[in-house]
This record gives sequence, structure tokens and C-alpha cells, in this order.
Amino acid sequence: MDKKQYVDKAIHAYYERHGAVSERLVDAILYSVDGGGKRLRPLVLLDLLEDFGVTIEPGHYDVAAALEMIHTASLIHDDLPAMDNDDYRRGRLTNHKQFDEATAILAGDSLFLDPFGLMAEADLADSVKIKLIQALSQASGTFGMVAGQMLDMTAEHTQPSLVDLAAIHRHKTGCLLTYPFLAAGLLVEVSQDEQALLEEIGQLVGLAFQVRDDILDVTADFETLGKTPKKDVIAQKATYPSLLGLDQSYHILEDSLNQALALVEKLEAKQAKNFVKLRALLERLRLDG
Ligand code: IPE
Ligand code: IPE
Ligand code: MG
Ligand code: MG
Ligand code: MG
Repeated sequence: MDKKQYVDKAIHAYYERHGAVSERLVDAILYSVDGGGKRLRPLVLLDLLEDFGVTIEPGHYDVAAALEMIHTASLIHDDLPAMDNDDYRRGRLTNHKQFDEATAILAGDSLFLDPFGLMAEADLADSVKIKLIQALSQASGTFGMVAGQMLDMTAEHTQPSLVDLAAIHRHKTGCLLTYPFLAAGLLVEVSQDEQALLEEIGQLVGLAFQVRDDILDVTADFETLGKTPKKDVIAQKATYPSLLGLDQSYHILEDSLNQALALVEKLEAKQAKNFVKLRALLERLRLDG
């Protein structure tokens, strides 16, 4: 089994060992979980841990699984008619199209709440788990992703400043992409300096990733995206291409990735290690502009 499969197994195992109260709810949850997805956030965590020289254990897969569950919940709710109103996700019908709106809302609720139980049960030191759980709550809720989604919704049909757009992206996407960097630092128990460096790398990767997603909305097709292209244009979303045009957006993507890689080099010097896997993962986020 590869790392992605172990993450999927950790999610399934959580639902199997607790049993279903409502089969329909668990079916809807697993429909979205099993829809595929790149599993980027779990892979950043696991590859980064390996770069630090850590042997991956079941507890680490549980943290990665918890993060992917929150991300999946954010997608289910993001696709709802009241939000982005999308019919396709990960190459198949969105949760509310496959089931119904109420079920999709509830499947999202579950996937936001269950990860905290899963993490609490993980085979890791309690002192570390408390920090991991606190950071996941912070990255997900009122101070992270959900806040970003609120800013995103209120910015529809407006032309925000670049500073405001950066704040939308930092929260709606940046926080959940920074989490694997923070979690790796907490698990390895790095110094405060190194933790700050990891956070900075995560924020740059998060910005790069949402700018990339904004670009792909304009340039890619359904087969590549697994979701309807040009949706941001139709919904008049505040995006980097809509504010700055495609050329500038490609430039910002490249620039953010290069800045992140320069900080990876700093981390490598501090740790006297080569972060080969992390570098490879970040290189794969480049797009030819
Ligand atoms: C999509 O995230 C939503 C954004 C934050 C841009 P991903 O592109 O990681 O989606 P999946 O998990 O691969 O489907
Ligand atoms: C996604 O932003 C942010 C979250 C889901 C938290 P988008 O709305 O751009 O994501 P896609 O394009 O629908 O995947
Ligand atoms: Mg959205
Ligand atoms: Mg969307
Ligand atoms: Mg998008």
C-alpha cells in the first residue's frame, strides 16, 4: 500500500470501528472521501516527516487522515448551492447532487467534527496531540478556512484590493495547507525558529496553490480538473487572474514557489538534511505559463 492508501484506510477504519448510526450519513461521507482527490495535504505532512527522518507510524496517518477529512468537508460545503453551486467534484457528481442538500450539509458537518475524535484516539503522546488538535481547529474554523470562505463569498462581484485578495486566499486555502507544515514541526518537536520557518513555507505554498487553482479554473478542462471549468469567471469570483490577468498570476505562482523553496533551503541548512521529497512535491505544483 502506498501512503495515500494508508490515509484512506485510516479514514475508513475510524468509521468502521465506531459503526454507523445512520448508514446514509456514512455513505455520503465515504462517497466524497472515496471520490479521489490528490491527497496533497496528507502527502505534504507524510513526505515532510520522512524528510525529517521520521518513520511513519499509524498515529501519523491518523493526523494526515484528519486533515484530509476537514479538507473534504470544506469541498462538500464549498460546492453547495448557497456557496459555489457546483455539480461536479473529483470527476463525479457533488455530494448534494448525488444525495441531497440536507445530506451534503450533514456529511460536511460530520467530516468537520469527526477528525477531532480521530486525532484524540491517535497513538501519539497526549502533549503533542493537544497541540495538533488546537492547531487543526485554528486552521479550520473561525480563524482559518471558514473565515476565508466567508471573505470569499462576500467578495463575489467585487474587485478587492490585492491585499484583501491575499487575505482571502491565506485563510480559505492557506491555513489548511500550512497545517501539515505546522503538524510536522509539532511531531518532530523542532525549535521555535524552525517552527516559524515551517509556517512561512506553508503560507507561501498555500498562496501558490490557490493561485494555481485560480489559473486552472481559466485554462484547464473538465478531464484535468474533475470540476466544471470557468466557474470563477461565471460567478465573478475574486481571483488572481480576474484581478491581475493570467500572466501576472503565473508569475505570482512561480514566485511563491521559489520563495518557499528558498526557505526550504534554510531549513535544510538548520537540520543538516536534504528535504528531497518536499522539494519534489513543490516542484510538481509549477505550471508552464
Ligand atoms: C481544491 O483543493 C480546493 C482548493 C483549496 C483549491 P484540491 O485541489 O487539493 O482538491 P482535491 O483534494 O485534489 O480534490
Ligand atoms: C476552495 O476554493 C476553498 C475551499 C474549499 C476551502 P475554490 O472554491 O476555488 O475551490 P474549488 O475551485 O471549488 O475546488
Ligand atoms: Mg469557493
Ligand atoms: Mg468552489
Ligand atoms: Mg477554485
